[in-house]
Amino acid sequence: MIDADLAIVDASELVTVRGAAPRRGAAQADLGIIEHGCLAARDGLIVFVGDERDYRRQVRLGRSGVEIDATGRTVLPGFVDPHTHLPFAGSREREFSLRLQGTRYEEIAAQGGGILATVEATRRASYDALVELGKARLNRMLLHGTTTIEAKSGYGLTLEDEIKQLRVLRALDGIHPVDVVPTFLGAHAVPKEHRRDRAGYVREIVERMIPEVAGQNLARFCDVFVDEIAFTAEEAETILGAAAQRGLGLRVHADQLSDSGGALLAARLGAASADHLEHATEEGIRALARSATAAVLLPGAAFFLRAAASTLGRRLVDAQVPVALATDFNPGSCPTEAMPAILPLACLNFGLSPAEAIVAATLNASYALGLAARTGSLETGKAADVQVLDVPNHLHLVYHFGVNHCRTVVKSGRLVVEEGALAGETWRGHSGKGAVDKASG
Ligand code: NIG
Ligand code: FE
Repeated sequence: MIDADLAIVDASELVTVRGAAPRRGAAQADLGIIEHGCLAARDGLIVFVGDERDYRRQVRLGRSGVEIDATGRTVLPGFVDPHTHLPFAGSREREFSLRLQGTRYEEIAAQGGGILATVEATRRASYDALVELGKARLNRMLLHGTTTIEAKSGYGLTLEDEIKQLRVLRALDGIHPVDVVPTFLGAHAVPKEHRRDRAGYVREIVERMIPEVAGQNLARFCDVFVDEIAFTAEEAETILGAAAQRGLGLRVHADQLSDSGGALLAARLGAASADHLEHATEEGIRALARSATAAVLLPGAAFFLRAAASTLGRRLVDAQVPVALATDFNPGSCPTEAMPAILPLACLNFGLSPAEAIVAATLNASYALGLAARTGSLETGKAADVQVLDVPNHLHLVYHFGVNHCRTVVKSGRLVVEEGALAGETWRGHSGKGAVDKASG
């Protein structure tokens, strides 16, 4: 018998996403569905996945164990959101109104608004204020089925303020059930005090920020926004080269607003991901296909910036590039924490199928963070990071859009969302070590 302390039983569809990562081409749509599926966990790890008959025969649930009835419901791996800008203060709804009247995102940035407006607000915010904001946002993510995220600094743009943001991320990872993977994005914009001295800011990043961030082990990745309104591919190569030397993994904001050579650069440097890619060239896509780099698509940002619908996702999958999906959660180009808002946009505006979008939001997203051995699919030995949706099959996640179907979330084997509400634990209200332990390793 297999001993368990938590079980989810009789799902109309148990979407396992089992098998090797990353998923490319036809494998991007392989969901590994088990009808009348059951899952059991012990000490935070999955110990059984199978159908109801085998579950009844093989699994013994301890006396204080929790059994969750998923009859008529769909069970998925918790979402992994591999691109967020979580630790910021303020909001930009007035800029949004201007954009609705026709002002372009780039124009707002050129006038000192956009990213630099959020930099002002974030510099002014205290560490504690950022932790509180972060907690509320992570709660919203968890309620929408997200169990692991990547989160970037990049609204500090001084050594001190970047470190403040990264320390906030470290604290949030310790307090909150959602796992937070930190990325240093000092190269998000050229700060206004360096406007006439770009080279000086790049030097500051390379010579002071990266050594300090890596030395204090405050980030796992380094990212650069490569674009006309941010950094050139050449500047990015200098920054990412320095980051790689210090042991950081690499990510690139690539070809979002224009073709800036970002996809080619990401592939050539062996980056973990190339993100956005709306203006990637065919050459850039072919380079990604030959590399181990994942494409992280952000259809929420494209939608929010009113980019035209395209076949970007379709072209990438057909070219054998592993495709992941993320929110890009940030106050300018995509102010939503909800991964379920992103999947319909990926299908309707970027040409993915619902099955491809689900793989992109789970296993491939986990691969893009280097975590595929630990989370992103429902297989024995992996973390029990699971969501239960009140829908009869996975298609409803895309089809029945604009509402939250997530009823139950289990993170590392613990029940953290119950019937659509946070399960009573201390991370909700105040700082300090929460009652939910993090999975080790
Ligand atoms: O991913 N592209 C750069 N950064 C964000 C936008 C950040 C902002 O507008 O504050 C993005 O879209
Ligand atoms: Fe981004």
